[in-house]
Amino acid sequence: MATSNVDDVKSQEPARTFTLEELQAAYSHWSEGKKGPSPLRPRDHPLLPVAGGRNVLISSALPYVNNVPHLGNIIGCVLSADAFSRFCRLRGYNSLFLCGTDEYGTATETKAIEEGLTPRQICDKYNAIHKQVYDWFNIDFDTFGRTSTDEQTKIAQDIFWKLHKNGLLLAESMEQLHCGNCNRFLADRYVEGTCPLCAYPDCRGDQCDKCGKLVNATELLNPKCKQCGATPVVKSSDHLFLDLPKIQPELEKYLEKEAFGKGMWTHNAKLITQSWLRDGLKPRCITRDLTWGTPVPLEGYTSKVFYVWFDAPIGYISITANYTKDWEKWWKNPTQVEYYNFLGKDNVPFHSVIFPCSLLGAKDNYTLVTHMSATEYLNYESDKFSKSRGVGVFGTDAISTGIDADIYRFYLLFVRPENQDTSFSWADLVLKNNTELLNNIGNFINRGLSFLDKNFGGVIPEMKLIDEDFQLLASINCEIAAYVSNMEQVCLKEALRDILAVSRLGNQMMQAAQPWALVKGTDEQKIRGGTVIGLAANISLQLSIMLLPFMPHYSKVIQQQLNAPDSCYYLVEYLICHLEAGHKIGTPGPLFRRIESAEVEDLKKRFAGKPAPKPDIPAAALSPEELEALNKEITSQGEVVRSLKTQNAAKEEIDKAVAVLLGLKNKLKLHGGAGDSTKAESNKKGAAKAKGGQKTPVTSG
Ligand code: MF3
Ligand code: ZN
Repeated sequence: MATSNVDDVKSQEPARTFTLEELQAAYSHWSEGKKGPSPLRPRDHPLLPVAGGRNVLISSALPYVNNVPHLGNIIGCVLSADAFSRFCRLRGYNSLFLCGTDEYGTATETKAIEEGLTPRQICDKYNAIHKQVYDWFNIDFDTFGRTSTDEQTKIAQDIFWKLHKNGLLLAESMEQLHCGNCNRFLADRYVEGTCPLCAYPDCRGDQCDKCGKLVNATELLNPKCKQCGATPVVKSSDHLFLDLPKIQPELEKYLEKEAFGKGMWTHNAKLITQSWLRDGLKPRCITRDLTWGTPVPLEGYTSKVFYVWFDAPIGYISITANYTKDWEKWWKNPTQVEYYNFLGKDNVPFHSVIFPCSLLGAKDNYTLVTHMSATEYLNYESDKFSKSRGVGVFGTDAISTGIDADIYRFYLLFVRPENQDTSFSWADLVLKNNTELLNNIGNFINRGLSFLDKNFGGVIPEMKLIDEDFQLLASINCEIAAYVSNMEQVCLKEALRDILAVSRLGNQMMQAAQPWALVKGTDEQKIRGGTVIGLAANISLQLSIMLLPFMPHYSKVIQQQLNAPDSCYYLVEYLICHLEAGHKIGTPGPLFRRIESAEVEDLKKRFAGKPAPKPDIPAAALSPEELEALNKEITSQGEVVRSLKTQNAAKEEIDKAVAVLLGLKNKLKLHGGAGDSTKAESNKKGAAKAKGGQKTPVTSG
């Protein structure tokens, strides 16, 4: 079996011998044809759970609004969740896939100051950029919202009041650094000073880079506000805490019985959660002295907002509420809804401990997480993605590389950091594109369909299956079953390898049967040649269905080339003959293109790191003149490509010119790039320091 190793492609297992029953089953499934399972229902919005059905709620961690996501962020949550969501649709589940931007908090306020905009303007701008990037990557959310909405205020405050009513809030005064010049309390990452332990002068507000020790911002010597350089002073402020120790037993009961018991949790998600529980939960501050956030409604705290990590996950609920007034059918329906979380591992405790505790504490029958798929990190080449150093490909850059979104999807899912950190490598992307996509899948489908087109006028001939075909069908069915089971368990990487295995089986069939020789032979040989081609067309269709979660665009292209009826677009565990004798296919054509090393050498240089790029150009910022110039450039590059083709220039040269053309077209599609941002650090366990006094319960009434 394949492991998490980046280079591992599922190795060829020795041909298995199948039982008679298995062979018969393969044949009868094959013959189901149009009598097979009924086609998928249309997905009419709003999508809602159905009593007795399989109801799957899928959320992708809400990306911070103040930055442009890089490839690691994209595979970390939205892309993984999209592949899974598309799989659920193919299976006909009642699924809802939601995401949106995480908009509140200090990071947004700071970004707004940096760019001279209001927080609202920053959110509008970057929310649009995120949308654009995900659109380009073919991420098909059922709804993509944001956290800064009225519904968010309503629901977050409602949960807050219920926690209050249930006696789960504590009050305590905290000491925090306050910058008089900026007139705000400073989160740890907005202060620096001299390390109180080793006297290192550039100590951060939470940790010293020199001695590595954790420090408290209030203990820094010579503290400076990172925003303005002024010296902040220690001030005290009253805050509210969620009484996690009181909720812990109930959380543990839930996790043991439901989530860990019945759900699928990645190893890291389980481990991180267990270690938090083992250490014993501590009360957690849920308020902040900021303005950009959901207001705290309790008397005495009304100048504060909720801490983003209390507030943001509630975004999943409010985004649903903005999508449908019947949101409670998803969110207050724990027995009928399975809830899948997709996230990076740094987000685990907020999703497995804090958020579930808020919901459990509200005692309002909320749907809690059942399955948690947490990814490790994706590195870029052998480095880390860094916007400020210009290392790595960010969403908006990807659009201008001349490489299709689906190729990125394929490669990112191929190297998905499922069990350990993995790397994005250009050389490896080229290799996987040229071997797996071009030589394996592309070659199989294109060879079969072109042959069908030339020799049979594109019409599927009569098929007379023989013993070895049943063996092949049974082998393919094993791969399809493995694929379905891997997808069910969110082992997306493995499932992708199952697709490649199906294609390899197809190629082996073609290689062994040599239909191009058979069609020139006796009548019997001609029938055999036709059968092989009919099989190839149906295997191609099967591949297109299995590929859909990974490469939706190419999946559609294959379906178009096959002229496949919509009715066969669903996924069962076995191969069905959907394209029967007499079916006329569409026009075959090459699917994938070879990527030349030279092409990625340029990209490698481009993204290897350089001085920080200049601040953003808003997404739709091309002036009419710039637009016209770009259009001209596209026209002339189009000429270059055409003339190279008519001159029969070297393939390499043509590919390069095509890549340039695609890059320009993508630029046009996006109306210009959008740039700089900093990956906001994940929030620390509370930015403020408690004075050490007793926390007092906050009681209602
Ligand atoms: N914005 C966070 C990040 O990008 C994720 C928030 S997930 C949420 O790391 F559920 F809290 F919204
Ligand atoms: Zn300041």
